[in-house]
Amino acid sequence: MTDLAPNEKYTNAAIRPGDPDPHPDKPVGEYLTDVVSNDWVNNEYKLMVLKAPEKALTAYAGQFFHLLCPTPDGAEVWMRRPMSVYKVDKPAGQIEFLYKCEGRGTKGMATLEAGDTFNVSGPLGIGFHLDPAWKNIVVLGRGVGLATLAPLSQLAAENGVGVTAILSARKSDLVMSEDLFEELGADTVTVVDEDGSSDVDNVEKILEGLIADGKADAFFTCGSSRLLKLMQVLGKKYDVPGQVAMEQIMVCGVGACYVCMRTFEIDGEQTLKRVCREGPVFNMQEAVGW
Ligand code: FES
Repeated sequence: MTDLAPNEKYTNAAIRPGDPDPHPDKPVGEYLTDVVSNDWVNNEYKLMVLKAPEKALTAYAGQFFHLLCPTPDGAEVWMRRPMSVYKVDKPAGQIEFLYKCEGRGTKGMATLEAGDTFNVSGPLGIGFHLDPAWKNIVVLGRGVGLATLAPLSQLAAENGVGVTAILSARKSDLVMSEDLFEELGADTVTVVDEDGSSDVDNVEKILEGLIADGKADAFFTCGSSRLLKLMQVLGKKYDVPGQVAMEQIMVCGVGACYVCMRTFEIDGEQTLKRVCREGPVFNMQEAVGW
């Protein structure tokens, strides 16, 4: 069991599976979940599966949890880390997170093992939505952004919507989430840097082909400013609506500190919005790239 002592002050308030819910009318809670597994899926990413209380399982695609990651090196990790939900398995009572181990928070998270306890709060933010008029959508993501987009295939399957997922990565062994997309009936197209197939020109051709085939009633993206800009241009040109999941550093995660502000452009006017509260999913055409 990893030492969670620096974070114990939070755990007294958190709800364990089976505890009565002290705030049944509130959608967000702080939970002490049990780690079911936390395994490497390649040499950069791990998949964590948590046993979670019922209310946490109401999380939907694009929402996130704020995670109290243990310290990887003895120094205190004092801020929670936001992480989008990868999969919700309601029958099993489990939530999954697919994450890249690169910062202190995720390196600390990587130390957790089956049987450990993990403090998470959420579900937070406004996730993706599907218009009932949409019959086919296109999902375009890169790197860890694919983990944010993957649960869209679950939402689409529940709503009878077809999905084409274009999965972009540096190398073929870093293409994430292909299994989950396919398991839920999505068509997948993999594009990678090592053979040039992830170049914007090639992705543009793929997208224009999908539009011509009537497979693109809406666009969804996450993880690449370059791909966001491409979808914005094509969205405007062909009148395809879209949504983008923004990634941002957060502190409170609930709209109080304004650390997560980003610029958006609405009707020609620039404005600031909180990614944690007004997002993290936004109208694609209003987002300003990074
Ligand atoms: Fe505090 Fe968004 S992280 S307002």
